[in-house]
Amino acid sequence: MAGRIPESFIDDVLARTDLVELIDSYVHLKRTGKNYSACCPFHQEKTPSFTVSPEKQFYYCFGCGASGNAIGFMMDYTRLGFVESIETLARNLGLEVPREEGAGQQREDYQPLYKALEAATSFYEQQLRNPKVKERPVNYLKSRGLSGETAKHFRLGYAPQGWDNLITTLGKSDSDINHLIKTGLLIENEQGRRYDRFRDRVMFPIRDSRGRVIAFGGRVMGNDKPKYLNSPETPVFHKGRELYGLYEAKQASNKIRRFVIVEGYMDVIALAQFGIPYAVATLGTATSRDHIEKLFRHSDELIFCFDGDEAGRRAAWRALENALPTAKDGRQIKFLLLPEGEDPDTLVRKNGKDYFEGLLDECDTLSEYFFKHLREEVDTRTMDGRARLASLAKPHLEQLPAGVLQQLMLKRLGEITELDDIQLTPAPPEPLHQGPDYSDYPEIEGLQSDQPPPYHDYDSGHGPGQTDTGKPGKRQPIKRKALQKTKHRDELSLVDATIRMLLNAPRQAAALSLPDELQGLQLPRMATLLELFEFIKQKPDASTASILGHWQNREDGDTIFKLAAKEFLLPNDEQSPELSDAVRRLYLQKVEQDLDQIIADGVKDKNKFKELLHLQKELSK
Ligand code: GTP
Ligand code: MN
Repeated sequence: MAGRIPESFIDDVLARTDLVELIDSYVHLKRTGKNYSACCPFHQEKTPSFTVSPEKQFYYCFGCGASGNAIGFMMDYTRLGFVESIETLARNLGLEVPREEGAGQQREDYQPLYKALEAATSFYEQQLRNPKVKERPVNYLKSRGLSGETAKHFRLGYAPQGWDNLITTLGKSDSDINHLIKTGLLIENEQGRRYDRFRDRVMFPIRDSRGRVIAFGGRVMGNDKPKYLNSPETPVFHKGRELYGLYEAKQASNKIRRFVIVEGYMDVIALAQFGIPYAVATLGTATSRDHIEKLFRHSDELIFCFDGDEAGRRAAWRALENALPTAKDGRQIKFLLLPEGEDPDTLVRKNGKDYFEGLLDECDTLSEYFFKHLREEVDTRTMDGRARLASLAKPHLEQLPAGVLQQLMLKRLGEITELDDIQLTPAPPEPLHQGPDYSDYPEIEGLQSDQPPPYHDYDSGHGPGQTDTGKPGKRQPIKRKALQKTKHRDELSLVDATIRMLLNAPRQAAALSLPDELQGLQLPRMATLLELFEFIKQKPDASTASILGHWQNREDGDTIFKLAAKEFLLPNDEQSPELSDAVRRLYLQKVEQDLDQIIADGVKDKNKFKELLHLQKELSK
């Protein structure tokens, strides 16, 4: 099989191709000011709304929203595949398409790491049979109701007490020890002393979807803290991408009807033991876009199952935000919030399989959960409340792929709010008809400011409407501008607005560095933003078109293209605010996210709390 086309070559092809010339050879273009235009080749129209920007090497149709760079045009117009499109463009330029050497050869060889992890798994498994140490862990597993068969299926094990069990058994040579350190199984401290990470814990091996052990979770048997210890990120383990139980679920059935996504290791295992083998868990992280897309590759139905407490509701909403862009027609996404104090493990044990599957069958669809949640935040009996609901809902509905679900949810939003003309972006360049105009509601926070920024801080990760509950004793968050009236109707989240600024003027990024803290900011597309920033830092001369080339053919490519396209809607006199300002606001959101967390945890670390409050003040200036 031919290797991959090197990315640098794709950049080169995009840099040398003139998009105007290329498109003009298929569709006659006319100059209109800075840009070129034509009747759109992708939909029927009488007046031209298809626009090509020579400066950005990017096209956009105001009528149907089609957009892209040279590769995208070839793919859409000539219906060639990605590779063939590049080959055609290269041929036009008289270039030969190079190929990278076979994939395996260039990558670092992780084989020894997998081997070390496998050896450790066997070692831990054996300890559950070792008469000298097995009593406590076996009793613990029994007390949790696990059968020997289940323990075997999930390859559960036991890491005995002591600092050097693993190192003396598996660390025979320097290279063995190095591999164990790389997998996170051994820790090397600053003095160079090495010791076992997992001690006196029940071990849950985490397998990738091919069944290779890539990490572990280890649970204490008593009440020590931390309850679970997980492997750190390693070259073979990225917890934001892995799902506990996915391999086991695939083993159990070759056509998985649906997945239920739960919170804990024990939930996955208990459900499997009770005849529900299609549960998976994230590894103590929020459900990411990657997780969701991964699951959709195996099944068309996902059910998110969370505890019914405040933390669970928050996690559910976050999962919903990440799920929206994946909700294509034909896929089903549902939400099950359990009664407070219960988790799937306790429920299935108490009530059995049929009961639990009944809950799964009857729980809320994405649409039901979405409106239920928003209606809890506002009072839809008042006009203000309904207006607020519309403005909270709209940016989310825009995240949905165009399709039946989006139409239905939009219709439902219209019914609830009694506003019958809610429009989603992308909008035409001249506003033909305005969306709901909130200027009649001056009492709503944030509407009176003279100079609204063209993006709002809505997706602050707090869940909508949780900003001004005014509960006594609760920190009053700084005013958010969730309802700011924007001049354009395409209200963007702060993350998206920042992505767009970067795409529009990539060079701005060169002078700026991102605070490390942003890594931990949990917002939709934050990972994309960080990756984009990193990319531009490495290639400061990259044009918008070549950056888009990097994202072409990727799952999140569509979103990036749409965001780049929105730039066409910005008249020149309404430049995006400074990038550094956007970064400051993101940082502020991270600080607030941390503050919320500290408050939720009961403000144990007073100094940290003060520090964050101070930072919040500084950043709000
Ligand atoms: P038990 O039933 O008490 O064994 O746990 P659980 O599987 O129900 O987990 P719980 O609901 O308490 O937590 C959900 C998930 O969060 C766990 O499976 C872990 O992945 C993660 N988690 C929980 N506690 C900790 C902790 O102390 N440290 C870390 N790193 N992760 C934790
Ligand atoms: Mn539990």
